Amino acid sequence: MKLNRVERLVVNNPLRRASQYLEAQWFYRKMPLTAGAKVLEIGCGRGAGAQLIKAKFKPKLFFLVDLDMQMIRHARDYLGADKKGNTGYCNASATFLPFHNGSFDAIFGFGFLHHVLEWQNSLKEIARVLRPGGIYYMLELYPALYQNFITGRLLVHPTRNRFNGPDLKKGLQDEGLDLTHTREIKHMGILGIGIKN
Ligand SMILES: C[S@@+](CC[C@H](N)C(=O)[O-])C[C@H]1O[C@@H](n2cnc3c(N)ncnc32)[C@H](O)[C@@H]1O
Repeated sequence: MKLNRVERLVVNNPLRRASQYLEAQWFYRKMPLTAGAKVLEIGCGRGAGAQLIKAKFKPKLFFLVDLDMQMIRHARDYLGADKKGNTGYCNASATFLPFHNGSFDAIFGFGFLHHVLEWQNSLKEIARVLRPGGIYYMLELYPALYQNFITGRLLVHPTRNRFNGPDLKKGLQDEGLDLTHTREIKHMGILGIGIKN
């Protein structure tokens, strides 16, 4: 589901970039990638996370996916000229990723999964396009944060089939993604790293 105007303001601003910087640092500290990795970011938004991933994890090949073409355009502008010629942009849904099985060494998802009604299908797709031993770096939010009395009026998200920590962990497990590192704030959200077994 695409963002409404209010949420665009929330994510397309320097504060969001600052928090994303800390999230990327945490991912890197817990599990850096070996050089030359093939990396995908799903729900790239305006590309601030992609810029951090490029600088920190130095992928050899990097694809950015978003459901919203306007976000893809923002991301292209934000990242600027692709001097190394190793970055691809793709307007697609996380529930139907246009990549072959086992295409990626790592996938990043900064807060997109809770926008997807059929989030379990999205986890299936993530597990499909990751190679065995591949890494899923994720930040996700829970309904108490984005669907409370205030945020429920300001933001739009699917209202059915929502996940909290236990549902998300079971969903990951069902797709063979073993959570190796987590940092969770109960009822609020989670930073996690899953490895495809
Ligand atoms: C909350 S924003 C997060 C943007 C950015 N990753 C960040 O952390 O600032 C969620 C992003 O996921 C995208 N999105 C929502 N549903 C999606 C789907 N089914 N497939 C791919 N991207 C999706 C939205 O368009 C939006 O750019």
